[in-house]
Amino acid sequence: MKIWSVLTVFASLATADYTPVRVPCPSANLTRPAVGLHPEEAAYIEQRHSKSGESLKTFLKTLEISSFDVDSFLDEKSPKIAIAIAGGGVRASLFGAGVLAGLDGRVAQKGTGGLLQAADYIAGLSGGSWLVGLLCLSDWMAADQLVEMSEKMKFPGMFDTFGMTIKILKDTMGKKKAGYQTSVVDQWGRLFHYVTAEAGLNYTDPTWSGIRNLSSFQDFSMPFPIITSTSLFPGTSFDVTHIDYINPMVELTPFEVGSWDRNFRYFADTEFLGTEMENSQPLDQCVRNYDNHGLFLGSSGGIFNADVIAGFEMKGYHATFLTGVLEYLDLVNQGEFRVGLIQNPFYKMSDISSNQTISRFMYLCDGGFEKQQNIPLLPFLQPEREIDLLIATDPSTDTLEGHGWPNGASLRHTKEKSDLEFGKGIYPEIPDEEEYLNRNLSMQPAFFGCNITSLKQYNNTERFSPVIVNIPMGNLTYASNFSTGKFFYTHEETQGTYLNAYNMVTRSNLTEDASWNVCLGCVSLLREFQRRASNIPNECQSCFDRYCFN
Ligand SMILES: *[C@@H]1O[C@H](CO)[C@@H](O)[C@H](O)[C@H]1NC(C)=O
Ligand SMILES: *[C@@H]1O[C@H](CO)[C@@H](O)[C@H](O)[C@H]1NC(C)=O
Ligand SMILES: *[C@@H]1O[C@H](CO)[C@@H](O)[C@H](O)[C@H]1NC(C)=O
Ligand SMILES: *[C@@H]1O[C@H](CO)[C@@H](O)[C@H](O)[C@H]1NC(C)=O
Ligand SMILES: *[C@@H]1O[C@H](CO)[C@@H](O)[C@H](O)[C@H]1NC(C)=O
Ligand SMILES: *[C@@H]1O[C@H](CO)[C@@H](O)[C@H](O)[C@H]1NC(C)=O
Ligand SMILES: *[C@@H]1O[C@H](CO)[C@@H](O)[C@H](O)[C@H]1NC(C)=O
Ligand SMILES: *[C@@H]1O[C@H](CO)[C@@H](O)[C@H](O)[C@H]1NC(C)=O
Ligand SMILES: *[C@@H]1O[C@H](CO)[C@@H](O)[C@H](O)[C@H]1NC(C)=O
Ligand SMILES: *[C@@H]1O[C@H](CO)[C@@H](O)[C@H](O)[C@H]1NC(C)=O
Repeated sequence: MKIWSVLTVFASLATADYTPVRVPCPSANLTRPAVGLHPEEAAYIEQRHSKSGESLKTFLKTLEISSFDVDSFLDEKSPKIAIAIAGGGVRASLFGAGVLAGLDGRVAQKGTGGLLQAADYIAGLSGGSWLVGLLCLSDWMAADQLVEMSEKMKFPGMFDTFGMTIKILKDTMGKKKAGYQTSVVDQWGRLFHYVTAEAGLNYTDPTWSGIRNLSSFQDFSMPFPIITSTSLFPGTSFDVTHIDYINPMVELTPFEVGSWDRNFRYFADTEFLGTEMENSQPLDQCVRNYDNHGLFLGSSGGIFNADVIAGFEMKGYHATFLTGVLEYLDLVNQGEFRVGLIQNPFYKMSDISSNQTISRFMYLCDGGFEKQQNIPLLPFLQPEREIDLLIATDPSTDTLEGHGWPNGASLRHTKEKSDLEFGKGIYPEIPDEEEYLNRNLSMQPAFFGCNITSLKQYNNTERFSPVIVNIPMGNLTYASNFSTGKFFYTHEETQGTYLNAYNMVTRSNLTEDASWNVCLGCVSLLREFQRRASNIPNECQSCFDRYCFN
């Protein structure tokens, strides 16, 4: 086969940028049972929270809520806030960007701006993981800037970007030649890397663990980032239709990769992820530089890979070349484009009850494949993280089978997962589809889980679930219900989708509700009001009456 000899030439040209490297193992354990937070996550959050708490004070002071003293209230204890950016392709990335911009004091200087600075955590899934990932890797750029940059991204398919294809091949071949299994997600990830780099994104360190070294992480100015993915069970033929609520929801943070799920509860060090392990022990030297962001974001957003590759409209030699290469590089995956192969750090571990331990690889696929849970809420339902307010984007197109608008389906699906993980009664009540639509909840934000009388506390704690603030994608100022498979957006479509979200989260710059910013401030305090059984200020009560579903 001609293609093989061509590939061999490429392999010999391979550069080390993407190739994992072998290094001596650190003295610390590479895995840990999920008992409490990772010590370094806990340390990060402690520092971040002193910053975010100050930002929350600043935000609340601008609201001038009567008979409420911000300093004395927050000095006692300030609530933890998390943001969950959902998946749904480029539509979801742009929608998430608009929501983040509307909450970002650097972009929206009045009104709702400043709440992003008060957030401790941020998570992304699929299209949301690209957004969160790129913002973090670029040292916490503001989302409006990223949207501007995205309009400069050029994908191959034209002669002038053919050089990119060669670089991608070199990188993937280099990794394969060094003895690591590759999958199409490697190529997709590299493509994404080069496209974003050429559009101007500065990658100081393109690894996920490398985020630890960025200055906005070192000085705690970014919320702690998490991206999520779903792990397939071995022996399910890469068939994503076999995925159910029992499939582990995997978290990928700058410190660790693993799952809190009841049948898993283990994490492994992100920095040494490529290391071959058996029962928690490295078999040989350790491996670094495996945790490339493209591999991670491509694994979280697996729904896209096939669409994207098909969407390039690659003609002639481009097509022949890439198809041949994909077959060659993807022997294990057998053409299943939607699954990322990751060296399994939990191989043969006796402490894990899931059969995930029988395979040398983890098969990671789109987080949204787990029963349409395309909002990464689960990381923030973990009681260990002590989240009080969870702001969620929902750019789903549930109605009209993928062409319509959200109907709350994803929020309801996560109830099933929560029941399985934490027991029934923990998760906030979400209206059914009919009530959701009747109450116009796809057109305006809503608060879920306000009423703790109808909720249970997590086992062995006094905590309730966080209150969920739902920011749905409605047809407010733009019909942004594009299909998840749509990859190319015109300037008008990009701006329309982004601004639709911006308007949704700011309630059209407070023109739909002049005290919406007060309501966001109030809801951030709700769990703390409840814990202290303190009087709820009138302005806050009025917000809860308007926005609380229950
Ligand atoms: C490493 O793991 C072992 C159990 O596998 C445990 O006994 C030991 O305390 C751990 N060491 C550290 C530093 O956590
Ligand atoms: C990337 O870095 C270069 C050189 O430091 C700078 O000119 C450019 O503005 C940066 N781009 C972004 C998007 O931050
Ligand atoms: C952070 O940077 C230091 C100094 O360059 C390096 O030794 C270390 O390996 C880096 N850490 C990570 C997780 O990349
Ligand atoms: C692993 O467990 C899952 C869930 O119970 C099951 O569907 C799958 O068939 C199992 N795989 C193997 C190889 O036993
Ligand atoms: C958007 O939703 C409307 C219904 O509100 C539907 O008629 C239209 O086809 C959808 N657009 C796309 C691009 O799917
Ligand atoms: C919580 O406690 C109840 C009662 O003790 C028990 O039945 C349930 O299994 C526990 N749930 C979890 C998730 O541990
Ligand atoms: C639904 O919400 C939108 C946005 O707030 C508003 O313009 C519209 O009038 C509402 N429709 C109904 C039926 O309440
Ligand atoms: C809160 O929930 C309880 C128990 O379900 C119910 O009796 C009460 O009316 C609810 N309160 C509000 C304000 O909805
Ligand atoms: C979106 O709203 C506009 C203005 O209300 C309306 O003209 C348009 O038909 C709507 N589009 C869809 C797809 O629902
Ligand atoms: C809200 O403000 C933004 C930024 O100034 C602007 O682009 C947007 O059009 C405004 N929204 C409305 C509904 O006027």
